[in-house]
Amino acid sequence: MMRLVVVSNRVTMPERGEKVAAGGLAVALRSALEQHGGLWFGWSGAISSEPAATMEPVKHGKVSYAVTDLTEAERQSYYLGFANRALWPLMHYRLGLTEFTRADYAGYLGVNRRFARLLIPLLKPDDIIWIHDYHLIPLAAELRRRGVTNRIGYFHHIPWPPAEVFGSLPFSSTLISTMTAYDLIGLQTQNDVANLIGGLVALSGARREGNRVRTGQREAVVQAFPIGIDVEGFRKLAQASVRAATQPVRATTAPLGSRKLVIGVDRLDYSKGIVQRLEAFGTFLRNHPEHRGEVGLLQIAPPSRSDVPEYAELDRMSDEVAGRLNAALGEFDWTPIRVVKKAYSRSALAGLYRRAQVGLVTPMRDGMNLVAKEYVAAQNPEDPGVLVLSRFAGAAQQLGEALIVNPFDTHEVAEAIRTALAMPLSERRRRFERLYATISSTDIDWWTSRYLAALSGLDIPSGDIVPP
Ligand code: G6P
Repeated sequence: MMRLVVVSNRVTMPERGEKVAAGGLAVALRSALEQHGGLWFGWSGAISSEPAATMEPVKHGKVSYAVTDLTEAERQSYYLGFANRALWPLMHYRLGLTEFTRADYAGYLGVNRRFARLLIPLLKPDDIIWIHDYHLIPLAAELRRRGVTNRIGYFHHIPWPPAEVFGSLPFSSTLISTMTAYDLIGLQTQNDVANLIGGLVALSGARREGNRVRTGQREAVVQAFPIGIDVEGFRKLAQASVRAATQPVRATTAPLGSRKLVIGVDRLDYSKGIVQRLEAFGTFLRNHPEHRGEVGLLQIAPPSRSDVPEYAELDRMSDEVAGRLNAALGEFDWTPIRVVKKAYSRSALAGLYRRAQVGLVTPMRDGMNLVAKEYVAAQNPEDPGVLVLSRFAGAAQQLGEALIVNPFDTHEVAEAIRTALAMPLSERRRRFERLYATISSTDIDWWTSRYLAALSGLDIPSGDIVPP
């Protein structure tokens, strides 16, 4: 049997515990690998002045881990710089926030080259290599250049913008051209597929035939594979966590008493629309004063990438907006909004989702958003809560029975909160059943097996090497 080699910038080692603000990618890859077994290669999350030049994988259960430190200069240029100040805002359609420097781009290419050099000695001829996310776009080209002929797939977890947006990045043509070094490129939605194919044609002169894109000797298939969650596992976690009334759940919900709970859970990231969501909740309370005192918004927002200035600014702004709204709308015995900036265990989150009458998932732009799926999975089928979901999350393509909103329209989000709180049980159940059926039929196992079947079944001549 072929071995699976997964490569991603972020790797979650089992001993790190559950309370990491890991984001959807690490959680999904952990479940996929635990199921399938294989090697997981990437950044350790640590910094050292001289990362080791060779690696010794460490085995935990079915998964071997091979992780390398970054130098501080690499963290600055590759991770904080090019990946998170240039690519991240660009891919989320935020040109105004995009900061590009040549030094960061050089650092990004440097880490991709170093990852290729470290990975090659660990590879076996039949391995199937699956590379994840925007930190590692040129990695396949670096591997091919060094003679790797294995099947190599890529999955892009975040949105891919139209060519007009992506093309504003300096060196966008060079970077996008490296992508035909992959055999299969997976994206979250059809919209992302159309944008990437459009970009490959417009910026790298690739030829397109259906969902195949060709440059020179290489051809890549580009296809949508919406990522899922471990629905059954998460449902059980939610059930167990409520029964056990575990400490974090009790501590967080006890002060609410019988009050209704609206919940948001996101990394503290400007793409998630947290500030806009707080404003929308304020608008809801202003427009519908009868709900004051009866419902509270709990926003859990573990800090993320805090060394990037735009994230530090969001940290400040979210405190300011929550403080202003609480001061204006709160009462001595009722605080409308609580923003908690720390990570909770997955079982505490599952219990909170189940306790919440409304799940507010309103990103300004998101690849998929797995919180939307987790919120549904955690509900009590007898008395389910209502999901309010941004139309700009990839999940909205699948979860049409949620209340779909435009997160830029504060008034619309406010009205959706009111509709959700007033929704009759029969309608809540009807919507929940359809949503649950969708997330179950497209869960994490479905995603992994569908992607890997496509990657291993492709009829592609191996051995074509990208010219240096
Ligand atoms: C998103 C990205 C992932 C990333 C995660 C957490 O989900 O798609 O690649 O790992 O955010 O961000 P971080 O910078 O902490 O890895």
